[in-house]
Amino acid sequence: DPAVTLERDGIHSLEELKQATMRCRECPIGEFATQSVTGEGRLQAKLMFVGEQPGDQEDLRGHPFVGPAGQLLDRALAQLGLPRDEIFVSNAVKHFKFELRGKRRIHKSPSQREAAACLHWLEDEIALVRPRALVALGATAARSLMGRMVAVTAERGKWLERPDGRRVLITLHPSALLRMPPEEREAAFEAFVADLAQAREVFQ
Ligand code: URA
Repeated sequence: DPAVTLERDGIHSLEELKQATMRCRECPIGEFATQSVTGEGRLQAKLMFVGEQPGDQEDLRGHPFVGPAGQLLDRALAQLGLPRDEIFVSNAVKHFKFELRGKRRIHKSPSQREAAACLHWLEDEIALVRPRALVALGATAARSLMGRMVAVTAERGKWLERPDGRRVLITLHPSALLRMPPEEREAAFEAFVADLAQAREVFQ
């Protein structure tokens, strides 16, 4: 029950959630990140998007999905006529995990333990925003939201149901598109948009 986690964490607003995650050291990532990045968007949004974790730009700027993956997500939303201020955008993990290579910070995927440690913050966000439905962008988000492993390539474009009754639309992470060879990217982007098109029914 998400309301139970809100109570446990003593969180009453998104601002309190931001402050609490800033201090969070329940896993090792927080110590090395610039700041925590919590979800943003419309409070009481009907639809909530969940990614993996903030990237380099998000970590520096303090906002979710503002780097290259965010720009791709924005392009998909624009194509669908879904304004970003109608939705809520967040991540399964609230701090940026990276490996230093020279001066560059290279994204590292969070471990299952780290994602599990962060889950109560994500559940707090869901309890505060109370979306009708969610979109899981990639395997980390899908696993956190569903409480089990989800085979994203097999389940993409499908709605799954959480124990709390909320539906979760499964699709790829936009970063997966950015890693594809350029000649495959356009078709992959159209398939991504086609997955997301199903989420429009939430607004009807
Ligand atoms: N990738 C994510 O999963 N989340 C962000 O906020 C940015 C990139």
